[in-house]
Amino acid sequence: MAPRSAGSTPSTLADRVREGLDACGAPWPAPIRHFPVLESTSDWLKAQARMGAATWTVVFADRQTHGRGRSGNIWHSPAGNLYLSILLPAPAVEARVAQLPLMAGVAVAHALRRSGVEVRLKWPNDLIVVAGKLGGVLAEAIGAASERRIVLGIGVNLNCRREDLPLPARESATSLLVESGVLQNAAEAAQSVLSETRVWYDALTQRGAGPVIAEWRRLAADWWWGRPVEVTIDAQALRGVAAGVDESGALILELPDGSRRCVLSGDVRALRLKE
Ligand code: BTN
Repeated sequence: MAPRSAGSTPSTLADRVREGLDACGAPWPAPIRHFPVLESTSDWLKAQARMGAATWTVVFADRQTHGRGRSGNIWHSPAGNLYLSILLPAPAVEARVAQLPLMAGVAVAHALRRSGVEVRLKWPNDLIVVAGKLGGVLAEAIGAASERRIVLGIGVNLNCRREDLPLPARESATSLLVESGVLQNAAEAAQSVLSETRVWYDALTQRGAGPVIAEWRRLAADWWWGRPVEVTIDAQALRGVAAGVDESGALILELPDGSRRCVLSGDVRALRLKE
């Protein structure tokens, strides 16, 4: 991106984010793009990656027409929220790749907590408060082993109201506006998400999983532990009690026969009493 002349007024979200990062001494090393609307920022970035986009390239959209969530879910993407994707280099140590989703959850939780809302994490990387889900992270690997990269898609409900979302999504969703009563600034939120992602990516790749897992545990929603849950792994449902996460970030599930199983990736939901 061409440098802006000194004193000029940033015009787009991308310019404001880049200038904010420069101003706090964390210049971004790759292009930052912004579109009013995209089908999906992650799909756009994957296509750019195939055409040689630099790692750490970022794309934002004001809204998405085909936003994707984990497990093939739709990510409803009305205007007013944050939708972005980042092209991460794959960590050199294979074990770290599986920990990227937890790393991303920790980074985004830190960024959103600057709003004053006590954002917590639900395994693996849902951003939640007691009232519901604020956001989520979708990490997708692309390319053959030697040139693997990760498209990290992040969606955060900044300013939507529940009625902006269709049913049933609105029943389990909330936003920073709803939780704090304060209209959120998208450029500031994006800037925080990017700077925290670099900090926690560096921590994971340079210091190992320890600091990320410790922070994930600190931020975990403790009301989940000890609850009956159902984990979906490759379309297979497994029921048990959520007991915590192990040293690698895997979910520890206590099965009805008393054995324990560590689940590396999947989706988890709390079971209601009669299920
Ligand atoms: C989840 O299911 O919790 C993950 C949701 C990830 C949504 C984001 S929004 C930006 C990026 N583009 C997409 O299509 N999905 C991700």
